[in-house]
Amino acid sequence: MKVGVPTEIKTDEYRVSLTPAGVRELTERGHDVCIQSGAGLGSTIPDAEYEAQGARILPDAQSIFDEAELVLGVKEPQPEEVAMLRPDHLLFTYLHLAPDPELTSGLVDRGATCVAYETVIDELGRLPLLAPMSEVAGKIATQAGAFMLEKPLGGRGILLGGVPGVAAAKVMVIGGGVVGMNAAFIAIGMEATVYVYDRNIDRLRELDIAFGGRADTCYASTLDIEKRLPEVDLVIGAVLVHGAKAPYVVRREQLKLMKKGAVLVDVSIDQGGCFETSHATTHSDPTYEVDGVTHYCVANMPGAVPITSTYALTNATLPYVLHLAESGVEQASRENPGLAKGVNVVDGKVTYQPVAEATGHQYTELFEALGARAAA
Ligand SMILES: NC(=O)c1ccc[n+]([C@@H]2O[C@H](COP(=O)([O-])OP(=O)(O)OC[C@H]3O[C@@H](n4cnc5c(N)ncnc54)[C@H](O)[C@@H]3O)[C@@H](O)[C@H]2O)c1
Repeated sequence: MKVGVPTEIKTDEYRVSLTPAGVRELTERGHDVCIQSGAGLGSTIPDAEYEAQGARILPDAQSIFDEAELVLGVKEPQPEEVAMLRPDHLLFTYLHLAPDPELTSGLVDRGATCVAYETVIDELGRLPLLAPMSEVAGKIATQAGAFMLEKPLGGRGILLGGVPGVAAAKVMVIGGGVVGMNAAFIAIGMEATVYVYDRNIDRLRELDIAFGGRADTCYASTLDIEKRLPEVDLVIGAVLVHGAKAPYVVRREQLKLMKKGAVLVDVSIDQGGCFETSHATTHSDPTYEVDGVTHYCVANMPGAVPITSTYALTNATLPYVLHLAESGVEQASRENPGLAKGVNVVDGKVTYQPVAEATGHQYTELFEALGARAAA
């Protein structure tokens, strides 16, 4: 298969969807890999390192989209990339379609087959292609929150860990999955007082053991969250309902319960945000204020640390890339039902139910859509 890697063009995005190690695995299996010149530079990978493993370097995104059958990405395609998609393209990248009806319609209109990293599941129902970036985002969330609490940045002016004789700051993490656990571990490491909220009691049991008494686990009822808000300095939102738009866990009217200069970090912003007052921001301009509360809502947090994130992401995606390149989307989906869960759009039909429901498109069962495409 012809595999293409365009340069990421989302604001402040420095990751790349394939490393030289991935090129080597693909070319050794007889696939033809083309990389847009400079695609790896944000992750300090020069063109020559890709060429040394058998890739061809092409000058621009159009040449990549013209040549490739399988297009690999990191972030969701931007409008100019959507415009380059064709019905015979297989796109494999993060899509986050549930909160984005416009992008969903764009992909439907282009007729390409689109596989979302974030809805692929493994044999235990976990999200293997979201997890590595959630680990990174969780760790950044606490770092960013601690920084934004500093007075010159508009924060309350409190040090997360306190000092002897002065109490530590209070950190509330809502959603104790991969992001939440990593955020909590960094907050514990910085010696804050930490509370982690989730609605899954089995998950709270696991966290309780993992934290070994260094953080409190709490059931995430609306009332209990509301009671905690007046005392906390930093709230990290990290909830996820697989594939769906994020539920709101802090409402606009609850902001007035919080301290002035407190900080909200909405990691779930890529699924629409879990605070009612959130809207997506960028690394260049990461925060804004509502009712005296700083909001940090960067939708591509791992993009800021590409040397870590590119390798963490591609280590996880490569086996799926190889499977798609070897077998094509239909056979690979039959052989790996977890990969089939990643297929969101086929031939103008939405094949992932939560996305269809959230964006108002009709849902079509995956193999029905693939069968209709093959028959056409
Ligand atoms: N902004 C970024 O750059 C970035 C990067 C990586 C991940 N993310 C996002 O972070 C979010 C979390 O990802 P994850 O990998 O940790 O997911 P996860 O599935 O591992 O964890 C989500 C947790 O939320 C809990 N939950 C669901 N509804 C809840 C509710 N109403 N109240 C409390 N808890 C609730 C679930 O029980 C689960 O434990 C996702 O939206 C993901 O896309 C964002």
